[in-house]
Amino acid sequence: MPEAEEEELNAAGESRCITGIDGLDRILNGGIPRGNTVLITGSCGTGKTTLSFEFLLHGAIHDENSLFISVTENWEKLLKNVIPYDFFDDSLLKSKKLIMIDLGAIYSKLGLEKAEFTMEDIDIIVRAIGDIVREWSIKRLVIDSITSICFQLKTKEKIRDFILSLGKNLSEAGCTCILVSEISPGEQSYSMYGVEEAIADGIVLMANLQRRGDLLRTLQVVKMRGTMHSRAKYVLDLTSVGVLLVPLLKGGSVPGGI
Ligand SMILES: Nc1ncnc2c1ncn2[C@@H]1O[C@H](COP(=O)(O)OP(=O)(O)O)[C@@H](O)[C@H]1O
Ligand SMILES: [Mg+2]
Repeated sequence: MPEAEEEELNAAGESRCITGIDGLDRILNGGIPRGNTVLITGSCGTGKTTLSFEFLLHGAIHDENSLFISVTENWEKLLKNVIPYDFFDDSLLKSKKLIMIDLGAIYSKLGLEKAEFTMEDIDIIVRAIGDIVREWSIKRLVIDSITSICFQLKTKEKIRDFILSLGKNLSEAGCTCILVSEISPGEQSYSMYGVEEAIADGIVLMANLQRRGDLLRTLQVVKMRGTMHSRAKYVLDLTSVGVLLVPLLKGGSVPGGI
């Protein structure tokens, strides 16, 4: 990013969490408003984990402690499979700038290995995550995925309660949070239970798009409280230098020759 533009983004200062993904920061006019809980939603393979992980890496590199809570797979396996970013460095893990945890480990510590959670369990889980965030001064958190947690919450009331109290807890700690949401291809709603999208401060929709025999990945910011933003669709490219975004031109070709 050009220096002047970076300075301008930095001028947004403390009030914005600069994702470090240039295209996304431009779409959001300077980054995610700090303390927001953002749903990144899309079907499988659309790049949700990749983008969320990059968000944390930029935070860790710029001295903002970042936490990845892996729900669906072991984090070590995830690290092996994620794009080998040029700017990833093991020392980020050693210095605890980047912390990776399996949610299963938190559950077993709390003695919460069960198929369905009660309201009390939800309280315990939210408090446990909030405590980790405060203990390690975490400024960026990714939970991948919230959908898997929702499976164990079962009812809309419990899902609403969980996301609301988690969002409040994290926001009070000045922590910006990405909740990864899995939906089926072609799904009209932005989330599996319909509740997640209503509560989140922001929704970023990622999708696959067939065009001229190619399967493109797209990204669209549907909603983001606290900032003006573009609602246009962008084509997303996952590369080892990071996620690249270019506007999707309606009907025509895409700049860069994609
Ligand atoms: N090690 C890798 N090298 C190159 N590309 C990768 C690598 N790992 C993942 N990808 C790309 O990322 C895609 C998966 O993205 P991911 O973020 O896991 O999607 P989602 O979380 O939405 O299911 C793969 O289909 C592939 O294109
Ligand atoms: Mg994923």
